[in-house]
Amino acid sequence: VLRAQPRLRLRLAHVVAPDTPKGLMATRLQALLAQRSEGAVVLDVYPNGSLYSDADELEALQWGAVELLIPSLSKFGRLGTAVFELFDLPFLFADRAAVRRVVEGEWARELFEPLQRHGLLGLGFLDNGFKHMSARTHPLREPRDYRGLRMRVQPSLTIAAQMRALGAYPVMMDFAATRHALARGVVDGTENPLTNFWSGRMHEVQRHLTLSAHGYLGYAVVANATFWAHLPQPERRLIEVALADAIAFGNAMALQQEQRALQALRDDGRIQLHYPSPEEREALRQAMAPADDALAARIGPRWVRAMRE
Ligand code: SIN
Repeated sequence: VLRAQPRLRLRLAHVVAPDTPKGLMATRLQALLAQRSEGAVVLDVYPNGSLYSDADELEALQWGAVELLIPSLSKFGRLGTAVFELFDLPFLFADRAAVRRVVEGEWARELFEPLQRHGLLGLGFLDNGFKHMSARTHPLREPRDYRGLRMRVQPSLTIAAQMRALGAYPVMMDFAATRHALARGVVDGTENPLTNFWSGRMHEVQRHLTLSAHGYLGYAVVANATFWAHLPQPERRLIEVALADAIAFGNAMALQQEQRALQALRDDGRIQLHYPSPEEREALRQAMAPADDALAARIGPRWVRAMRE
């Protein structure tokens, strides 16, 4: 039975397509809330940066212009909180299971703690996947292939430092602006998980994709802390449980959509896929390594040590 008037209306803005892991998780959350509250709790989802883009979405959450966000972990540095850049360190996590051990373990609460003084509350972590390097001009096989390239990166000093270590010029730019910038040659290349690369139609404006899997891209689900504190207990519980279910669904979708994106890229045929050998990946790791110590100091040596162990 759907009620005429919702009792509670929430807004969630995000910057990627509806068929990405994040987009699918958001619409699953929307459906679960509607179903389980019989229409009393409504979640409005704004995909593709249609409401806010990378540059302003965190501020919008702080103002209360939206109640929920799912920014990538690389975007929290803007708040002056570097700890999430931990997830940007190259070659740190062997696979998704290694990431899950961190974000579902004892550290999760500690990771979210610094968000509180910014008026935000961390509610969970969501996967996308591992990032791969792309370029328009030539295949990226060896570290020297990156020299002089302008590479779009997320606003993470840790990612920027990796690109600099390769001799490339990092250009920080909103996700929504990236495809256009690649098409116009404002930047030469970028790094993405396959789902964002495919759904962002970057294969139309890049020629080479190297399946480097050199770094992880995941998300934190965050709420406006004041909004959360004022939620009646039953609604808060409803959202918490629905969120946990939607995250589990989103994580499963991350794997499925990644495989679909790879198949779609192969079928499309416009982009040349390069599969690096173990030696080529090791050369990339070594070329990025000089950035590591300074980054560990920025992020917190304690964290970096703990993750490595
Ligand atoms: C996202 O998945 O939210 C976008 C990541 C990016 O900016 O590259």
